[in-house]
Amino acid sequence: MTKRFYITTPIYYPSAQLHLGHAYTTVIADVLARYKKTQSYEVFFLTGSDEHGQKIAKKANENKQTPQKFVDNIVVSFKNLWAKLNIDYDKFIRTTDKNHITTVQKIFSKLLKQDDIYLGKYEGLYCVSCEEFLTDNQINKTNNTCKTCQGSVNSLSEPSYFLKLGKYTKQLLDYYNKHPLFLWPLNRKTEMINNFITPGLEELSITRTSFDWGIPVLEDPKYVVYVWIDALSNYLTALGYLQENDINFKKFWLDGNCEIVNLVGKEISRFHMIYWPILLMALKLRQPNRILAHGWIINEEGKMSKSKGNVIDPLILVNRYGADSLRFFLMKEITIGHDAKYSHQLFLNCYNSYLVNDLGNLLSRTVTMISKYCDGKIPKINLNKLQPEATAIIKNIKSTIIDFNIEMGEYQINEAINIVFRLITAGNKLIDLSKPWDLYNNNKIMELHNVLNLLANILITSSALLSPILVSSSLKIHQQLGVFKITTPVVTINLNEIFNRTINKKELLFPRLNIEDELIFLNNAFK
Ligand code: ME8
Ligand code: MG
Repeated sequence: MTKRFYITTPIYYPSAQLHLGHAYTTVIADVLARYKKTQSYEVFFLTGSDEHGQKIAKKANENKQTPQKFVDNIVVSFKNLWAKLNIDYDKFIRTTDKNHITTVQKIFSKLLKQDDIYLGKYEGLYCVSCEEFLTDNQINKTNNTCKTCQGSVNSLSEPSYFLKLGKYTKQLLDYYNKHPLFLWPLNRKTEMINNFITPGLEELSITRTSFDWGIPVLEDPKYVVYVWIDALSNYLTALGYLQENDINFKKFWLDGNCEIVNLVGKEISRFHMIYWPILLMALKLRQPNRILAHGWIINEEGKMSKSKGNVIDPLILVNRYGADSLRFFLMKEITIGHDAKYSHQLFLNCYNSYLVNDLGNLLSRTVTMISKYCDGKIPKINLNKLQPEATAIIKNIKSTIIDFNIEMGEYQINEAINIVFRLITAGNKLIDLSKPWDLYNNNKIMELHNVLNLLANILITSSALLSPILVSSSLKIHQQLGVFKITTPVVTINLNEIFNRTINKKELLFPRLNIEDELIFLNNAFK
Protein backbone atom coordinates (compact mmCIF):
# COMPACT_ATOMS: atom_id res chain seq x y z
CA MET A 1 0.00 0.00 0.00
CA THR A 2 1.32 3.44 -0.88
CA LYS A 3 1.82 5.66 2.13
CA ARG A 4 0.79 9.23 1.44
CA PHE A 5 1.29 12.56 3.16
CA TYR A 6 -0.39 15.88 2.37
CA ILE A 7 0.92 18.95 4.14
CA THR A 8 -0.17 22.55 3.74
CA THR A 9 0.90 25.97 4.99
CA PRO A 10 -1.52 28.86 5.30
CA ILE A 11 -1.68 30.76 2.04
CA TYR A 12 -0.13 34.10 2.89
CA TYR A 13 -1.57 37.52 2.07
CA PRO A 14 0.52 39.25 -0.58
CA SER A 15 -0.08 42.56 1.17
CA ALA A 16 3.63 43.03 1.83
CA GLN A 17 6.88 41.03 1.72
CA LEU A 18 7.00 37.90 3.83
CA HIS A 19 8.94 37.87 7.10
CA LEU A 20 10.56 35.41 9.46
CA GLY A 21 7.18 34.22 10.81
CA HIS A 22 6.05 33.05 7.37
CA ALA A 23 9.44 31.49 6.76
CA TYR A 24 9.05 29.60 10.03
CA THR A 25 5.76 27.94 9.04
CA THR A 26 6.97 27.12 5.57
CA VAL A 27 10.23 25.60 6.80
CA ILE A 28 8.29 23.33 9.21
CA ALA A 29 6.17 22.12 6.30
CA ASP A 30 9.21 21.61 4.09
CA VAL A 31 11.06 19.67 6.79
CA LEU A 32 8.09 17.37 7.41
CA ALA A 33 7.59 16.86 3.67
CA ARG A 34 11.26 16.00 3.15
CA TYR A 35 11.24 13.73 6.20
CA LYS A 36 8.19 11.80 4.97
CA LYS A 37 9.92 11.27 1.63
CA THR A 38 12.83 9.61 3.45
CA GLN A 39 10.19 7.27 4.93
CA SER A 40 8.95 6.36 1.41
CA TYR A 41 5.76 8.38 1.54
CA GLU A 42 4.31 9.89 -1.57
CA VAL A 43 4.13 13.54 -0.56
CA PHE A 44 2.15 16.56 -1.66
CA PHE A 45 3.31 19.84 -0.15
CA LEU A 46 1.13 22.87 -0.82
CA THR A 47 1.75 26.53 -0.19
CA GLY A 48 0.54 29.67 -1.91
CA SER A 49 -0.96 33.13 -1.67
CA ASP A 50 -4.32 34.43 -0.48
CA GLU A 51 -4.93 37.26 -2.89
CA HIS A 52 -8.50 38.50 -2.46
CA GLY A 53 -10.20 40.62 0.15
CA GLN A 54 -10.49 44.13 1.40
CA LYS A 55 -7.01 44.35 2.91
CA ILE A 56 -5.32 43.58 -0.42
CA ALA A 57 -7.68 45.87 -2.34
CA LYS A 58 -6.81 48.69 0.06
CA LYS A 59 -3.07 48.10 -0.21
CA ALA A 60 -3.19 48.01 -3.99
CA ASN A 61 -5.14 51.23 -3.99
CA GLU A 62 -2.57 52.90 -1.73
CA ASN A 63 0.07 51.82 -4.24
CA LYS A 64 -2.02 53.11 -7.15
CA GLN A 65 -2.06 49.70 -8.80
CA THR A 66 -4.80 47.29 -9.74
CA PRO A 67 -5.09 44.52 -7.15
CA GLN A 68 -4.00 41.94 -9.72
CA LYS A 69 -0.87 43.87 -10.73
CA PHE A 70 -0.07 44.54 -7.09
CA VAL A 71 -0.27 40.88 -6.02
CA ASP A 72 1.51 39.64 -9.14
CA ASN A 73 4.60 41.59 -8.08
CA ILE A 74 4.56 40.47 -4.48
CA VAL A 75 4.01 36.82 -5.36
CA VAL A 76 7.26 36.87 -7.34
CA SER A 77 9.05 37.78 -4.13
CA PHE A 78 7.30 34.92 -2.25
CA LYS A 79 8.56 32.40 -4.76
CA ASN A 80 12.02 33.90 -4.70
CA LEU A 81 12.18 33.59 -0.92
CA TRP A 82 11.07 29.97 -1.02
CA ALA A 83 13.70 29.15 -3.63
CA LYS A 84 16.40 30.77 -1.49
CA LEU A 85 15.26 28.82 1.57
CA ASN A 86 15.29 25.53 -0.34
CA ILE A 87 11.54 25.09 0.02
CA ASP A 88 10.55 22.22 -2.23
CA TYR A 89 6.78 22.59 -2.55
CA ASP A 90 4.74 20.56 -5.03
CA LYS A 91 2.27 23.30 -5.80
CA PHE A 92 2.02 27.02 -5.23
CA ILE A 93 -1.64 27.96 -5.36
CA ARG A 94 -2.86 31.47 -5.97
CA THR A 95 -6.47 32.23 -5.17
CA THR A 96 -6.62 34.20 -8.42
CA ASP A 97 -5.95 30.98 -10.37
CA LYS A 98 -8.80 30.23 -12.72
CA ASN A 99 -9.31 26.67 -11.43
CA HIS A 100 -9.49 27.88 -7.88
CA ILE A 101 -12.03 30.58 -8.71
CA THR A 102 -14.40 28.30 -10.59
CA THR A 103 -14.17 25.63 -7.91
CA VAL A 104 -14.94 28.06 -5.10
CA GLN A 105 -18.01 29.09 -7.08
CA LYS A 106 -19.01 25.45 -7.38
CA ILE A 107 -18.53 24.93 -3.64
CA PHE A 108 -20.73 27.94 -2.93
CA SER A 109 -23.43 26.71 -5.31
CA LYS A 110 -23.36 23.26 -3.79
CA LEU A 111 -23.83 24.60 -0.27
CA LEU A 112 -26.55 26.96 -1.39
CA LYS A 113 -28.43 24.13 -3.07
CA GLN A 114 -28.08 21.97 0.02
CA ASP A 115 -29.53 24.74 2.15
CA ASP A 116 -26.35 25.18 4.20
CA ILE A 117 -26.27 28.80 3.06
CA TYR A 118 -29.04 31.39 3.39
CA LEU A 119 -29.40 35.09 2.68
CA GLY A 120 -29.60 37.52 5.61
CA LYS A 121 -28.05 40.70 6.91
CA TYR A 122 -24.78 41.08 8.78
CA GLU A 123 -24.52 43.63 11.53
CA GLY A 124 -21.41 43.69 13.64
CA LEU A 125 -17.75 44.44 13.84
CA TYR A 126 -15.04 43.63 11.35
CA CYS A 127 -11.24 43.79 11.44
CA VAL A 128 -9.87 44.41 7.94
CA SER A 129 -6.29 43.56 8.89
CA CYS A 130 -7.33 40.11 10.15
CA GLU A 131 -10.20 39.88 7.63
CA GLU A 132 -12.29 38.63 10.53
CA PHE A 133 -15.81 39.20 11.88
CA LEU A 134 -15.20 39.79 15.56
CA THR A 135 -17.04 38.53 18.60
CA ASP A 136 -17.19 40.74 21.71
CA ASN A 137 -14.35 38.98 23.47
CA GLN A 138 -12.01 39.61 20.52
CA ILE A 139 -12.16 43.38 21.02
CA ASN A 140 -10.26 45.66 23.41
CA LYS A 141 -13.20 47.55 24.90
CA THR A 142 -11.10 50.51 26.05
CA ASN A 143 -10.00 51.72 22.61
CA ASN A 144 -12.11 49.61 20.25
CA THR A 145 -9.22 47.73 18.67
CA CYS A 146 -8.71 44.14 17.61
CA LYS A 147 -7.04 42.04 20.31
CA THR A 148 -5.10 40.01 17.72
CA CYS A 149 -3.52 42.79 15.66
CA GLN A 150 -4.30 45.95 17.70
CA GLY A 151 -5.76 47.42 14.50
CA SER A 152 -8.92 49.48 14.32
CA VAL A 153 -12.32 47.81 14.16
CA ASN A 154 -15.08 48.82 11.71
CA SER A 155 -18.78 48.37 12.16
CA LEU A 156 -20.42 46.68 9.23
CA SER A 157 -23.98 46.45 8.19
CA GLU A 158 -24.68 44.81 4.87
CA PRO A 159 -26.80 42.09 3.31
CA SER A 160 -24.93 38.83 3.36
CA TYR A 161 -25.09 35.13 2.78
CA PHE A 162 -24.53 33.03 5.89
CA LEU A 163 -23.19 29.55 6.43
CA LYS A 164 -25.25 27.62 8.99
CA LEU A 165 -22.67 26.68 11.58
CA GLY A 166 -25.12 25.90 14.36
CA LYS A 167 -26.42 22.74 12.78
CA TYR A 168 -22.90 21.27 12.80
CA THR A 169 -21.99 22.09 16.40
CA LYS A 170 -22.75 18.66 17.78
CA GLN A 171 -21.03 16.86 14.92
CA LEU A 172 -17.97 19.06 15.42
CA LEU A 173 -17.73 18.39 19.15
CA ASP A 174 -18.25 14.68 18.56
CA TYR A 175 -15.44 14.74 16.06
CA TYR A 176 -13.12 16.50 18.55
CA ASN A 177 -13.98 13.86 21.16
CA LYS A 178 -13.44 10.88 18.92
CA HIS A 179 -10.14 12.25 17.59
CA PRO A 180 -8.26 13.60 20.57
CA LEU A 181 -5.22 14.61 18.49
CA PHE A 182 -7.15 16.30 15.70
CA LEU A 183 -6.46 19.74 17.13
CA TRP A 184 -2.99 20.39 18.44
CA PRO A 185 -1.77 21.67 20.85
CA LEU A 186 -4.57 20.78 23.22
CA ASN A 187 -4.86 24.24 24.78
CA ARG A 188 -6.03 25.51 21.38
CA LYS A 189 -8.88 23.01 21.44
CA THR A 190 -9.89 24.21 24.91
CA GLU A 191 -9.79 27.79 23.66
CA MET A 192 -12.01 26.94 20.68
CA ILE A 193 -14.55 25.19 22.86
CA ASN A 194 -14.63 27.80 25.63
CA ASN A 195 -14.42 30.98 23.58
CA PHE A 196 -16.41 30.14 20.49
CA ILE A 197 -18.35 26.88 20.62
CA THR A 198 -19.83 26.88 24.14
CA PRO A 199 -21.12 30.48 23.86
CA GLY A 200 -22.95 29.24 20.72
CA LEU A 201 -21.60 29.31 17.17
CA GLU A 202 -22.97 32.29 15.34
CA GLU A 203 -23.87 31.77 11.71
CA LEU A 204 -20.90 32.84 9.63
CA SER A 205 -21.22 35.68 7.15
CA ILE A 206 -19.58 34.39 3.99
CA THR A 207 -20.05 37.15 1.46
CA ARG A 208 -19.23 40.83 1.22
CA THR A 209 -20.83 43.54 -0.91
CA SER A 210 -18.91 46.71 -0.10
CA PHE A 211 -15.97 45.97 -2.41
CA ASP A 212 -15.48 43.70 -5.39
CA TRP A 213 -11.95 42.24 -5.16
CA GLY A 214 -13.04 38.68 -4.61
CA ILE A 215 -14.72 35.71 -6.22
CA PRO A 216 -18.23 36.66 -7.40
CA VAL A 217 -21.13 34.50 -6.29
CA LEU A 218 -22.51 33.02 -9.52
CA GLU A 219 -26.10 33.14 -8.34
CA ASP A 220 -25.89 36.73 -7.15
CA PRO A 221 -22.82 38.53 -8.58
CA LYS A 222 -23.06 41.69 -6.50
CA TYR A 223 -21.68 39.54 -3.70
CA VAL A 224 -18.12 38.29 -3.48
CA VAL A 225 -17.20 35.25 -1.40
CA TYR A 226 -15.75 36.09 2.01
CA VAL A 227 -11.97 35.86 1.75
CA TRP A 228 -11.72 33.09 4.38
CA ILE A 229 -14.12 30.74 2.61
CA ASP A 230 -12.20 31.46 -0.59
CA ALA A 231 -8.90 30.83 1.24
CA LEU A 232 -9.78 27.67 3.19
CA SER A 233 -11.06 26.04 0.02
CA ASN A 234 -7.53 26.20 -1.41
CA TYR A 235 -6.59 23.01 0.40
CA LEU A 236 -9.16 21.22 -1.77
CA THR A 237 -9.03 23.18 -5.00
CA ALA A 238 -5.25 22.77 -5.25
CA LEU A 239 -5.77 19.01 -5.48
CA GLY A 240 -8.32 19.28 -8.27
CA TYR A 241 -11.51 18.96 -6.20
CA LEU A 242 -14.61 19.27 -8.47
CA GLN A 243 -12.31 19.68 -11.46
CA GLU A 244 -11.69 17.58 -14.52
CA ASN A 245 -8.22 16.53 -13.44
CA ASP A 246 -8.73 15.36 -9.88
CA ILE A 247 -6.07 12.70 -9.66
CA ASN A 248 -4.35 14.43 -6.73
CA PHE A 249 -7.64 14.89 -4.97
CA LYS A 250 -8.20 11.15 -5.21
CA LYS A 251 -4.69 10.37 -4.00
CA PHE A 252 -4.28 12.94 -1.24
CA TRP A 253 -7.82 13.51 0.03
CA LEU A 254 -10.16 10.69 -0.86
CA ASP A 255 -7.56 8.09 0.08
CA GLY A 256 -8.58 7.67 3.69
CA ASN A 257 -5.07 6.53 4.60
CA CYS A 258 -3.40 9.69 3.40
CA GLU A 259 -2.00 11.53 6.41
CA ILE A 260 -3.16 15.14 6.13
CA VAL A 261 -1.66 17.96 8.17
CA ASN A 262 -2.77 21.59 8.00
CA LEU A 263 -0.10 23.75 9.55
CA VAL A 264 -1.16 27.18 10.80
CA GLY A 265 -0.15 29.98 13.13
CA LYS A 266 -2.20 30.08 16.32
CA GLU A 267 -3.97 33.36 15.43
CA ILE A 268 -5.88 31.59 12.66
CA SER A 269 -6.92 28.62 14.77
CA ARG A 270 -10.59 29.61 14.81
CA PHE A 271 -10.76 29.44 11.03
CA HIS A 272 -8.98 26.13 10.80
CA MET A 273 -10.36 24.40 13.86
CA ILE A 274 -14.01 25.43 13.57
CA TYR A 275 -14.94 26.81 10.14
CA TRP A 276 -12.73 24.52 8.09
CA PRO A 277 -13.94 21.27 9.66
CA ILE A 278 -17.54 22.46 9.34
CA LEU A 279 -16.99 23.34 5.69
CA LEU A 280 -15.68 19.81 5.15
CA MET A 281 -18.65 18.33 7.00
CA ALA A 282 -21.05 20.31 4.84
CA LEU A 283 -19.22 19.04 1.74
CA LYS A 284 -19.32 15.51 3.18
CA LEU A 285 -15.56 15.17 2.98
CA ARG A 286 -13.11 13.58 5.40
CA GLN A 287 -11.20 15.67 7.94
CA PRO A 288 -7.43 16.18 8.05
CA ASN A 289 -5.55 14.11 10.60
CA ARG A 290 -4.08 17.10 12.34
CA ILE A 291 -4.59 20.83 12.53
CA LEU A 292 -1.26 21.88 13.93
CA ALA A 293 -1.15 25.40 15.32
CA HIS A 294 2.29 26.74 16.08
CA GLY A 295 3.14 29.75 18.21
CA TRP A 296 4.44 33.16 17.25
CA ILE A 297 7.88 34.50 16.68
CA ILE A 298 8.02 37.52 18.90
CA ASN A 299 10.49 40.28 19.66
CA GLU A 300 10.52 43.31 21.93
CA GLU A 301 7.35 44.70 20.37
CA GLY A 302 5.43 41.43 20.62
CA LYS A 303 4.27 39.36 17.65
CA MET A 304 6.33 39.93 14.55
CA SER A 305 3.83 41.16 11.98
CA LYS A 306 3.43 43.08 8.76
CA SER A 307 0.94 45.44 10.37
CA LYS A 308 3.32 46.31 13.22
CA GLY A 309 6.32 46.69 10.93
CA ASN A 310 8.67 44.98 13.40
CA VAL A 311 9.64 42.31 10.94
CA ILE A 312 12.85 40.44 10.17
CA ASP A 313 13.47 39.86 6.48
CA PRO A 314 14.68 36.25 6.25
CA LEU A 315 16.49 36.97 2.97
CA ILE A 316 19.11 39.05 4.74
CA LEU A 317 19.90 36.13 7.05
CA VAL A 318 19.87 33.58 4.24
CA ASN A 319 22.10 35.65 2.01
CA ARG A 320 24.73 36.01 4.70
CA TYR A 321 24.56 32.69 6.57
CA GLY A 322 22.95 30.29 4.11
CA ALA A 323 19.56 28.62 4.07
CA ASP A 324 20.63 25.73 6.31
CA SER A 325 21.64 28.04 9.17
CA LEU A 326 18.26 29.74 9.23
CA ARG A 327 16.29 26.52 8.76
CA PHE A 328 18.28 25.01 11.59
CA PHE A 329 17.71 27.93 13.95
CA LEU A 330 13.95 27.93 13.33
CA MET A 331 13.64 24.19 13.84
CA LYS A 332 16.07 23.78 16.74
CA GLU A 333 15.16 26.75 18.90
CA ILE A 334 11.38 26.78 18.63
CA THR A 335 9.06 24.17 20.12
CA ILE A 336 6.04 23.84 17.87
CA GLY A 337 3.06 25.23 19.73
CA HIS A 338 5.01 27.72 21.86
CA ASP A 339 5.90 31.35 21.18
CA ALA A 340 9.58 32.00 20.73
CA LYS A 341 11.81 35.03 20.78
CA TYR A 342 13.93 36.04 17.87
CA SER A 343 17.03 38.17 18.31
CA HIS A 344 20.21 38.34 16.24
CA GLN A 345 22.16 37.25 19.29
CA LEU A 346 20.03 34.11 19.71
CA PHE A 347 20.42 33.27 16.04
CA LEU A 348 24.21 33.72 16.07
CA ASN A 349 24.62 31.80 19.33
CA CYS A 350 22.60 28.90 17.97
CA TYR A 351 24.83 28.72 14.90
CA ASN A 352 28.08 28.83 16.86
CA SER A 353 27.04 26.37 19.56
CA TYR A 354 25.41 23.63 17.54
CA LEU A 355 26.64 23.90 13.98
CA VAL A 356 30.21 25.07 14.75
CA ASN A 357 31.06 23.65 18.17
CA ASP A 358 29.17 20.38 18.02
CA LEU A 359 28.56 19.21 14.47
CA GLY A 360 31.29 21.13 12.63
CA ASN A 361 33.87 20.26 15.24
CA LEU A 362 33.08 16.56 15.17
CA LEU A 363 33.34 16.58 11.39
CA SER A 364 36.64 18.39 11.17
CA ARG A 365 38.26 16.34 13.95
CA THR A 366 37.07 13.07 12.42
CA VAL A 367 38.14 13.94 8.90
CA THR A 368 41.53 15.20 10.08
CA MET A 369 42.24 12.07 12.14
CA ILE A 370 41.20 9.65 9.41
CA SER A 371 43.44 11.54 6.99
CA LYS A 372 46.35 11.46 9.41
CA TYR A 373 46.11 7.99 10.94
CA CYS A 374 44.44 5.95 8.18
CA ASP A 375 45.75 7.43 4.93
CA GLY A 376 42.44 9.13 4.34
CA LYS A 377 40.39 5.91 4.18
CA ILE A 378 37.61 5.09 6.63
CA PRO A 379 38.84 2.10 8.68
CA LYS A 380 36.99 -1.12 9.40
CA ILE A 381 35.28 -1.72 12.71
CA ASN A 382 35.97 -5.09 14.37
CA LEU A 383 32.69 -6.04 15.99
CA ASN A 384 34.28 -8.94 17.87
CA LYS A 385 36.71 -6.71 19.70
CA LEU A 386 34.73 -3.78 20.94
CA GLN A 387 35.63 -1.60 23.91
CA PRO A 388 32.68 -0.87 26.22
CA GLU A 389 32.56 2.78 25.01
CA ALA A 390 32.26 1.51 21.46
CA THR A 391 29.42 -0.85 22.34
CA ALA A 392 27.63 2.02 24.05
CA ILE A 393 28.02 4.21 20.98
CA ILE A 394 26.55 1.56 18.70
CA LYS A 395 23.55 1.29 20.99
CA ASN A 396 23.31 5.05 20.98
CA ILE A 397 23.32 5.23 17.18
CA LYS A 398 20.49 2.71 17.00
CA SER A 399 18.35 4.34 19.65
CA THR A 400 18.94 7.73 18.05
CA ILE A 401 17.42 6.45 14.83
CA ILE A 402 14.41 4.98 16.64
CA ASP A 403 13.80 8.01 18.86
CA PHE A 404 14.29 10.47 16.03
CA ASN A 405 11.60 8.72 14.00
CA ILE A 406 9.21 8.67 16.93
CA GLU A 407 9.56 12.42 17.46
CA MET A 408 9.29 13.24 13.76
CA GLY A 409 6.22 11.00 13.51
CA GLU A 410 4.66 13.30 16.12
CA TYR A 411 5.90 16.43 14.32
CA GLN A 412 8.19 17.28 17.25
CA ILE A 413 11.01 18.54 15.10
CA ASN A 414 13.03 20.30 17.78
CA GLU A 415 12.95 17.27 20.06
CA ALA A 416 14.07 15.12 17.13
CA ILE A 417 16.99 17.48 16.52
CA ASN A 418 17.94 17.39 20.20
CA ILE A 419 18.13 13.61 20.01
CA VAL A 420 20.60 13.80 17.14
CA PHE A 421 22.70 16.37 18.96
CA ARG A 422 22.98 14.06 21.95
CA LEU A 423 24.61 11.55 19.61
CA ILE A 424 26.90 14.22 18.17
CA THR A 425 27.92 15.22 21.69
CA ALA A 426 28.59 11.57 22.48
CA GLY A 427 30.85 11.49 19.41
CA ASN A 428 32.87 14.46 20.63
CA LYS A 429 33.11 12.87 24.09
CA LEU A 430 34.31 9.63 22.55
CA ILE A 431 37.23 11.53 21.03
CA ASP A 432 38.10 13.21 24.33
CA LEU A 433 37.88 9.92 26.20
CA SER A 434 39.56 7.51 23.83
CA LYS A 435 42.26 9.98 22.68
CA PRO A 436 42.87 8.54 19.20
CA TRP A 437 46.28 10.26 19.05
CA ASP A 438 47.44 8.16 22.03
CA LEU A 439 46.00 4.99 20.50
CA TYR A 440 47.99 5.78 17.36
CA ASN A 441 51.21 6.50 19.23
CA ASN A 442 50.83 3.39 21.37
CA ASN A 443 50.11 1.30 18.31
CA LYS A 444 46.65 0.25 19.48
CA ILE A 445 45.53 0.10 15.90
CA MET A 446 42.40 -1.99 16.23
CA GLU A 447 41.04 0.22 18.98
CA LEU A 448 41.92 3.29 16.91
CA HIS A 449 40.10 1.92 13.89
CA ASN A 450 37.03 1.09 15.91
CA VAL A 451 36.84 4.63 17.27
CA LEU A 452 37.40 6.35 13.92
CA ASN A 453 34.92 4.11 12.15
CA LEU A 454 32.31 4.92 14.79
CA LEU A 455 32.93 8.64 14.52
CA ALA A 456 32.40 8.46 10.77
CA ASN A 457 29.21 6.46 11.32
CA ILE A 458 27.92 8.97 13.86
CA LEU A 459 28.42 11.70 11.29
CA ILE A 460 26.77 9.77 8.49
CA THR A 461 23.77 8.84 10.63
CA SER A 462 23.41 12.28 12.18
CA SER A 463 23.66 14.18 8.94
CA ALA A 464 21.30 11.78 7.19
CA LEU A 465 18.74 12.25 9.96
CA LEU A 466 19.21 16.02 9.82
CA SER A 467 19.00 16.13 6.02
CA PRO A 468 15.39 17.38 5.93
CA ILE A 469 16.63 20.40 7.90
CA LEU A 470 20.25 20.82 6.76
CA VAL A 471 19.43 20.25 3.12
CA SER A 472 22.77 21.08 1.54
CA SER A 473 25.16 20.71 4.51
CA SER A 474 24.12 17.13 5.18
CA LEU A 475 25.18 16.13 1.68
CA LYS A 476 28.48 18.01 2.11
CA ILE A 477 29.15 16.11 5.33
CA HIS A 478 28.57 12.86 3.51
CA GLN A 479 30.86 13.95 0.69
CA GLN A 480 33.68 14.80 3.07
CA LEU A 481 33.40 11.20 4.26
CA GLY A 482 33.46 9.84 0.71
CA VAL A 483 29.74 9.06 0.55
CA PHE A 484 27.92 10.69 -2.33
CA LYS A 485 24.35 9.75 -1.70
CA ILE A 486 22.26 10.02 1.45
CA THR A 487 20.33 6.91 2.40
CA THR A 488 17.77 6.75 5.18
CA PRO A 489 19.33 5.44 8.41
CA VAL A 490 17.98 2.10 9.61
CA VAL A 491 18.44 0.35 12.93
CA THR A 492 20.03 -2.66 11.23
CA ILE A 493 22.90 -0.36 10.29
CA ASN A 494 25.96 -1.95 8.69
CA LEU A 495 28.86 -0.04 10.21
CA ASN A 496 31.30 -1.34 7.62
CA GLU A 497 29.27 -0.11 4.71
CA ILE A 498 31.49 2.98 4.68
CA PHE A 499 34.74 1.00 5.10
CA ASN A 500 37.49 2.23 2.78
CA ARG A 501 35.62 5.35 1.64
CA THR A 502 38.05 8.13 0.80
CA ILE A 503 37.96 11.31 2.83
CA ASN A 504 37.51 14.55 0.88
CA LYS A 505 38.64 17.29 3.15
CA LYS A 506 37.44 20.49 1.63
CA GLU A 507 36.01 23.72 2.99
CA LEU A 508 35.34 24.27 6.63
CA LEU A 509 31.61 23.59 6.60
CA PHE A 510 30.55 25.90 9.40
CA PRO A 511 33.09 28.68 9.91
CA ARG A 512 32.90 30.19 13.38
CA LEU A 513 31.17 33.55 13.51
CA ASN A 514 32.58 36.49 15.39
CA ILE A 515 29.44 37.46 17.25
CA GLU A 516 30.39 41.09 17.82
CA ASP A 517 31.18 41.69 14.16
CA GLU A 518 28.02 39.95 13.05
CA LEU A 519 25.87 41.93 15.44
CA ILE A 520 27.25 45.11 13.91
CA PHE A 521 26.52 43.78 10.44
CA LEU A 522 22.99 42.69 11.32
CA ASN A 523 22.08 45.83 13.21
CA ASN A 524 23.12 47.84 10.16
CA ALA A 525 21.37 45.56 7.71
CA PHE A 526 18.08 45.76 9.62
CA LYS A 527 18.16 49.48 10.27
O1 ME8 B 1 -3.52 34.66 7.85
N1 ME8 B 1 5.24 33.97 14.06
O2 ME8 B 1 -2.21 35.13 6.01
P1 ME8 B 1 -0.97 35.92 6.69
C1 ME8 B 1 4.96 32.79 13.50
N2 ME8 B 1 -4.14 34.53 4.40
N3 ME8 B 1 4.26 32.64 12.37
C2 ME8 B 1 3.82 33.75 11.77
C3 ME8 B 1 4.06 35.02 12.30
C4 ME8 B 1 4.80 35.11 13.51
N4 ME8 B 1 5.13 36.27 14.09
N5 ME8 B 1 3.50 35.93 11.49
C5 ME8 B 1 2.93 35.22 10.47
C6 ME8 B 1 -3.33 34.69 6.64
N6 ME8 B 1 3.12 33.92 10.63
C7 ME8 B 1 -4.35 34.07 5.72
C8 ME8 B 1 -4.25 32.56 5.81
S1 ME8 B 1 -5.01 30.08 5.15
C9 ME8 B 1 -6.35 29.35 4.47
C10 ME8 B 1 -5.24 31.80 4.98
C11 ME8 B 1 2.68 32.84 9.73
O3 ME8 B 1 -0.20 36.49 5.55
C12 ME8 B 1 1.74 31.88 10.44
O4 ME8 B 1 1.70 30.68 9.73
O5 ME8 B 1 -1.46 36.84 7.74
C13 ME8 B 1 0.43 32.60 10.29
O6 ME8 B 1 -0.69 31.79 10.52
C14 ME8 B 1 0.53 33.06 8.86
O7 ME8 B 1 1.91 33.41 8.69
C15 ME8 B 1 -0.39 34.23 8.58
O8 ME8 B 1 -0.10 34.76 7.32
MG1 MG C 1 -1.99 37.75 9.61
